[in-house]
Amino acid sequence: FDISGFQGDLIGWYSNEKRDLPWRLNRDPYRVWISEIMLQQTRVDTVIPFYNRFMEKFPTIQALADADEQEVLKAWEGLGYYSRARNLQTAAREVVALHEGKMPSVPKLLGALKGIGPYTKGAILSIAFGQPEPAVDGNVMRVLSRILEIDEDIALPKTRKTFEALVRALISHEDPSSFNQGLMELGALICTPQSPMCLFCPVQQHCRAFHTGRQLELPVKSKA
Ligand code: ADE
Repeated sequence: FDISGFQGDLIGWYSNEKRDLPWRLNRDPYRVWISEIMLQQTRVDTVIPFYNRFMEKFPTIQALADADEQEVLKAWEGLGYYSRARNLQTAAREVVALHEGKMPSVPKLLGALKGIGPYTKGAILSIAFGQPEPAVDGNVMRVLSRILEIDEDIALPKTRKTFEALVRALISHEDPSSFNQGLMELGALICTPQSPMCLFCPVQQHCRAFHTGRQLELPVKSKA
């Protein structure tokens, strides 16, 4: 597998074709964090207006930590899964108490904050801090299962670790942010679940599933 060719094709495409999304305006770790939490159970188009309002109302970690819980929940109204909002505020207060109000860039410290699991941790480390860490969600597993023709069941909890190990081996150390966000963007725009647009795919020549015609069989997913 041509790792540097794959990195170059993915990052080159991402640089040219990425959507102008509000959380891509800069690399402020707080902004990246809020976006990744909102995007976990909610679609990009729905998130955008909520994200902009949330950042206006709570522009800093300190502002979020100081707010009344009811205010935070009100700003979250319409996004659902309210434990995400409560965890965000708990974690903002942890960051103020333990880290002088700045998001930690040490993986263990970041992962210890309320509501920050392996995916969110990797997304913040790579996008905000430029560290070559995996950020593997269902979309990334779909994309990589096709490119590398991986038949592991993505519904099994242990499978995410397989993909994390693969991303560690593949990720660009020059631009971890564009590499991870390139995988996400590819999953959103090209390598979609039902009708992937393989003829427009920037990494088609690297894709084993396209080569064997198995792109619609992958990923393997046992339970709903
Ligand atoms: N989904 C999850 N994280 C994302 C990001 N940073 N950009 C676009 N879609 C995403």
